[in-house]
Amino acid sequence: MDSLIINGGVKLKGEVKVSGAKNACLPMFAAALLTSQKCILRNVPNLSDVRFMAEIVGALGAKVENVAEGVWEITAKKISHVAPYELVRKMRASICVLGPLTGRLKKAEVSLPGGCVIGARPVDLHIKGLKALGCDVKIDAGYIKVDAHKMRGGQLYLGGRFGSTVTGTANVLMAAVLAPGLTMIENAACEPEIEDLCNMLVSMGAKIGGIGSPMLSIEGVKALHGTEHTVIPDRIEAGTWIIAALATRGKITVKGALKRHLGSLLDLLERANCKIEYKGNDTVCVDASRLKLRPMEAVTLPYPGFPTDLQAQLCALMTMADGISIVTERIYPERFMHVPELSRMGAEISREGPSAIIVGNTKLSGAPVMASDLRASAALVIAALAAKGRTKIQRIYHLDRGYDSMDKKLRRLGADVLRVRDE
Ligand code: EPU
Repeated sequence: MDSLIINGGVKLKGEVKVSGAKNACLPMFAAALLTSQKCILRNVPNLSDVRFMAEIVGALGAKVENVAEGVWEITAKKISHVAPYELVRKMRASICVLGPLTGRLKKAEVSLPGGCVIGARPVDLHIKGLKALGCDVKIDAGYIKVDAHKMRGGQLYLGGRFGSTVTGTANVLMAAVLAPGLTMIENAACEPEIEDLCNMLVSMGAKIGGIGSPMLSIEGVKALHGTEHTVIPDRIEAGTWIIAALATRGKITVKGALKRHLGSLLDLLERANCKIEYKGNDTVCVDASRLKLRPMEAVTLPYPGFPTDLQAQLCALMTMADGISIVTERIYPERFMHVPELSRMGAEISREGPSAIIVGNTKLSGAPVMASDLRASAALVIAALAAKGRTKIQRIYHLDRGYDSMDKKLRRLGADVLRVRDE
């Protein structure tokens, strides 16, 4: 298992390029199961989650090849309808094969993904959506079993207690594109990753209206064909770089930071006194050399609200604000595993239900800490970069799941970061 050793106190400086979006490309690998023809994906990030997804799609019978850097070819001529527990348990996003198997084969058996460290992650809305399309769905022996022989378009509301569902929308959408008739999904997730998936499906011959909005209309077609699609840049990676620059009082240019995907973060930071400049639509320049960071109040919400996937990183930054900040988690109320680890570095954070109250002006100091999930790991990296002294972050395989070459990119920005293999 690898660890990162970070000697903090270096201001990040220079230019960094954002990789392709993890949460866009994972369902796209599954979408390739909807056709027997070849699908080519470009700008795919080099991540362990991507390799897991490739393994799952391959185990279902598709030919999956990483033909060049960032380019994957998937041809799903003959596929099986069963995604077993041994594969699905490795990564929750593998649930995204449910929709395509249902759409193409009219039957699916996909293991329930199991527990998750960031909190309860039910799939009731995925099931509700498929049922609304006329599928017979049962849970049996830990598997979601779908009989979709009578599937047809339907009208459904896809929201729950916490709002819309990203992978649930992806699943219902990927079944509906091959369901005869018209499907209307109300309260569909509007995340850019869903928009990108819709665009890929349209390029495969799907008929989808309302792309990017909470109301998707899908006119089922008989079959889809192959395609070539370039994945959008990762807005969460872009946001992580922006926050890291601010935390280290650095000056960086982030290329591939699409302004229209980052509105909630940029607005919050500008209100907190951060100077952010835009060059065109996809480059953000952050100069924090003279920053006097004001405290912030942030609430995570479905897109276009503030993303839960940037909450942990923002907490790390809030320890450096001039006053008390509050962050409230409305998507995963228990997603605060980073708090005890940040506290080990000197942060003063108290929990009040789904909120964290963060005392500012804290002098963080390096310490041995443990990564517990992907975004908590990113928060620890940010804290370590800003802290005085040496931090060892253990279990950074969590980071490798979702950030392409983060340590290399950090070194190019001047950070003192070393990856070491633990005994
Ligand atoms: N929910 C339900 N029932 C469902 C599905 C979801 O109640 O059937 C609830 C969840 O418990 C949560 C909320 O709805 O409270 C939103 O969950 P959602 O289904 O949108 O999450 P997801 O699709 O499982 C994706 C990302 C996550 C990201 C969330 C929220 C992928 C592969 N994963 O998960 O990404 O946090 O949306 O934006 O797209 C990450 O990248 O670190 C990550 C965890």
